[in-house]
Amino acid sequence: MIDGFDTGARGGNDFGVNDTETGRKIEEYIKSMPSLPTTVTKVLEICNNPKTSPADLNRVISLDPVLVGRVLKLINSAYYGMGQPITNLVRAIIMLGINTVKNLALSTTIVGNLSSRKDPKGINIEGFWRHSLCVGVAAKMLAKKRGVDPRQHEEYFTAGLLHDIGKIPLNSVITREYLLTIATADREKIPLARAEEQNLNLNHCQAGSLIVRAWKLEGSVGDIITYHHDWASYKGPNRDILYSIVLANYFASLMEIGFSGDRYPDKLNAVVWDSLGLKRNIFDEIEETVNGEIAKAKVFLKI
Ligand SMILES: [Fe+2]
Ligand SMILES: [Fe+2]
Repeated sequence: MIDGFDTGARGGNDFGVNDTETGRKIEEYIKSMPSLPTTVTKVLEICNNPKTSPADLNRVISLDPVLVGRVLKLINSAYYGMGQPITNLVRAIIMLGINTVKNLALSTTIVGNLSSRKDPKGINIEGFWRHSLCVGVAAKMLAKKRGVDPRQHEEYFTAGLLHDIGKIPLNSVITREYLLTIATADREKIPLARAEEQNLNLNHCQAGSLIVRAWKLEGSVGDIITYHHDWASYKGPNRDILYSIVLANYFASLMEIGFSGDRYPDKLNAVVWDSLGLKRNIFDEIEETVNGEIAKAKVFLKI
């Protein structure tokens, strides 16, 4: 952990990240990014309320016809594989649940916001998104295999899809240093987050936590962006999703699916396996179908 950075501190100004030169630059950059559309902020807000009904969610999403189109496109794509076409949003919310539709709205908006940020001199951004899709898809597959409530599955995917978004500002703001840092991790055979701390004084979870704060990404998505390389210190309510992402992230790096820049991650701690009740052979099971699932989930990058 970096001096002055307390990952346990949430919502305040005591992250300490902006005490460093890089931290300040990253913070400026995040401020200049387009914020989340009001509709999505409202969607997150009302979904926080357990009394929200499908009609309430429909009312908010319907204010944004582009979002309605995106959500219906996802639901009717091979990714969701619903059998018969669904053209009515309320019906979709009733069938899939408020949580699922909220997550579809959130992930499609954030990916839309970020995926246009290509820097030809920076990391391979297609590889970055392939890694992200792999982690999302693998986390969702693990959740299914463990019998997690289907209404929660999309939450696992969204957290996986967005877990590494802190790399985007690093890649855009300090492109050259970031590439050198990835090279350091490779050369010294150390985890990428450690190389980032060594070279930049800031890892991609800390950079991500600044986006979490700027966009008010509360709940599991925000927690996973902030803690996926510091899972042992996490004390919040989303441990099951966090550990699933840690496992799925390890799987993606091990199989070299997409580009994570993290060829030498720390070995997975037994606590993660035991807490999820999974055995090592689960990776062989996932490997058979993961590429097909990634191909279906690519719809998130195309809308
Ligand atoms: Fe990461
Ligand atoms: Fe990752």
